[in-house]
Amino acid sequence: MDVTCTIECDLSDRMAEDIRQLQQAAFPTAEEFLTQRWWHTPLSDNERWVGARTGDKLIGSVRLLFRTITTPAGELVVGGLGNVCSHPDCRGQGVASACMRAAAEVIEREADFGFLFCGETVRDFYAKLGWQTVSNVFWMLEGGSDGPRVSDTPHGYAMIHPGRQSMDDWPKGEIDLNGPDW
Ligand SMILES: CC(C)(COP(=O)(O)OP(=O)(O)OC[C@H]1O[C@@H](n2cnc3c(N)ncnc32)[C@H](O)[C@@H]1OP(=O)(O)O)[C@@H](O)C(=O)NCCC(=O)NCCS
Repeated sequence: MDVTCTIECDLSDRMAEDIRQLQQAAFPTAEEFLTQRWWHTPLSDNERWVGARTGDKLIGSVRLLFRTITTPAGELVVGGLGNVCSHPDCRGQGVASACMRAAAEVIEREADFGFLFCGETVRDFYAKLGWQTVSNVFWMLEGGSDGPRVSDTPHGYAMIHPGRQSMDDWPKGEIDLNGPDW
């Protein structure tokens, strides 16, 4: 298995379509992935796609975007992880973990913390990889950049990973994501 990290602006049309098809297979009920590679936050040129391949086939993928969030301790850059998935035919073989480890290396270099939202069913998967649950109130724009500002409750758990800062430096209190979730 080869794991690579590609900047959005360098993705070929073929790679972009491989990612969309993998996400469609991994999240079969998400209508978004019939036509695009993102949920709520549109793509930007400097974000990264970690991809795991065997031969020509993309079998795992993670989206990593960068967002400046506002916290009681000031502004922080988070590496926001999303669209974490492996192909249904390749589960339990370490594919998604390999992608997560590659994303964590980028976060450690380029962001203050890694940050993700997840549901109960995958919380242990992330915890095994060193992610920790945090319990701040998060403000975000609902349903895209023109939605109302809402505090998070429907997203299950917020989890962080150390980046340039250690877990102990994660601030307490209310945090504004300064945009929609991803
Ligand atoms: C969750 C998912 C990404 C895991 O991918 P995977 O390639 O099977 O994961 P790995 O093989 O790297 O698993 C690593 C470890 O996590 C465990 N694990 C895998 N899925 C898990 C889950 N849903 N809950 C808890 N642990 C899980 C594995 O058993 C393995 O444990 P081990 O190291 O003790 O053997 C994959 O099932 C998936 O794509 N699901 C659908 C999309 C999804 O829900 N993504 C998460 C969005 S927040």
